[in-house]
Amino acid sequence: MSFSVVHQQEEESEKPPGFSPAHIAPGVKDRPQWLVAVIANVKGAYHSNEGPADAGAEYDKPETIQAIRDAIESAGHHSTFMNADPQLAFSLRDVNPDICFNIAEGNGDDAREAQVPALLAMLRIPYTGSRVLANAISLDKPLTKRLWKEAGLPVTPYQVFVAGDEPLQKDLHFPLFVKPAMEGTGMGVDLGARVTREEELRKRILWVLETYQQPALVETYLPGREFTVGVLGRPDAKLYTPRPELYRADGFHRFPILEIESHRSVTPGVYGYNAKAIPIQEEGAPAYISPAPLDPKLAERLQKMALAAHKVIGAVDVSRVDIRLSEDGKPFLMEINTLPGLNPAVSDLCIVSEAEKLPYRDLILEILYLGASRYGMVAPRR
Ligand SMILES: Nc1ncnc2c1ncn2[C@@H]1O[C@H](COP(=O)(O)OP(=O)(O)O)[C@@H](O)[C@H]1O
Ligand SMILES: [Mg+2]
Repeated sequence: MSFSVVHQQEEESEKPPGFSPAHIAPGVKDRPQWLVAVIANVKGAYHSNEGPADAGAEYDKPETIQAIRDAIESAGHHSTFMNADPQLAFSLRDVNPDICFNIAEGNGDDAREAQVPALLAMLRIPYTGSRVLANAISLDKPLTKRLWKEAGLPVTPYQVFVAGDEPLQKDLHFPLFVKPAMEGTGMGVDLGARVTREEELRKRILWVLETYQQPALVETYLPGREFTVGVLGRPDAKLYTPRPELYRADGFHRFPILEIESHRSVTPGVYGYNAKAIPIQEEGAPAYISPAPLDPKLAERLQKMALAAHKVIGAVDVSRVDIRLSEDGKPFLMEINTLPGLNPAVSDLCIVSEAEKLPYRDLILEILYLGASRYGMVAPRR
């Protein structure tokens, strides 16, 4: 590999373009290997009888953490795992990592995915992927849609219900789709999310409000094909990563588009929690088609939309954008995942990565080096 790790004395002179001193973590260590802490919430770490049946769906499996650690160590770095629990603030002080590979979902409340980035920012510890604000925005689907709409990106009409008896907006027509305003991994989404009449709508809204203790997002139902588009890169990505050839002139990689064909899944037509939880090859799982058979013009449009959606909310380095077609074939943005799942066997981003022969190890290292370069830890390629 032709990139090198920045040493202390180089740090002042080797600042990457657009580098702001506010992002420099003090004490970037003078050593060629980093101690990388993988920070995550692990499935099964918390046991509670409270909350919805799919609580903790976003948490990661130990094998995901191990796979990320193996990738990091294969590049000569050290790794450790840190649980994203309330002890993290103290354990970070003891472990003192050079950089954190962040996949933590956080511990409840709004903007939970921004909790670990906020803590790391406060402690001035470098971390991978999107920063505090973008992680907070992306978990909030209505806020994300509002920003996209303002930027002229295609989103369906929508309404947020906080009480449940608010009058339905005039631009919303049945069938409608109801989901928790701030969850992920298909939480609160099953066949009942599609509602065709007023009574069903009200019942479903109340169920979301009570079960998830958060507003319900109601939007136009999109009956068409479903795609997810991975985003990787940054305008200056080529300067810093182990695989510069992956990036186009604009600094972004183009993953093949993944189609999720859920019509023969356990929840036909809806890619909700139950459908997502079934391993790829098993009965009841959706079909994952990569690259999606698409008219090149539509494929290019989906790529452009995903990139714009990523930039509008200020996401950095990596994300995954979910898109669905309307009845007449027009694409609409559904949501963005600034912490896309990284389970090597089942996560959408890993499926598309493998499909184009970008091994899991390389994907993880790209994310690591893109992150590290934002803190002046990687010398730019000349
Ligand atoms: N407006 C909609 N119309 C049709 N299906 C939808 C709509 N919104 C969400 N879905 C379905 O629900 C799934 C989960 O919704 P999404 O917004 O992606 O949330 P999550 O964060 O849980 O992945 C989607 O993958 C899609 O299958
Ligand atoms: Mg989604």
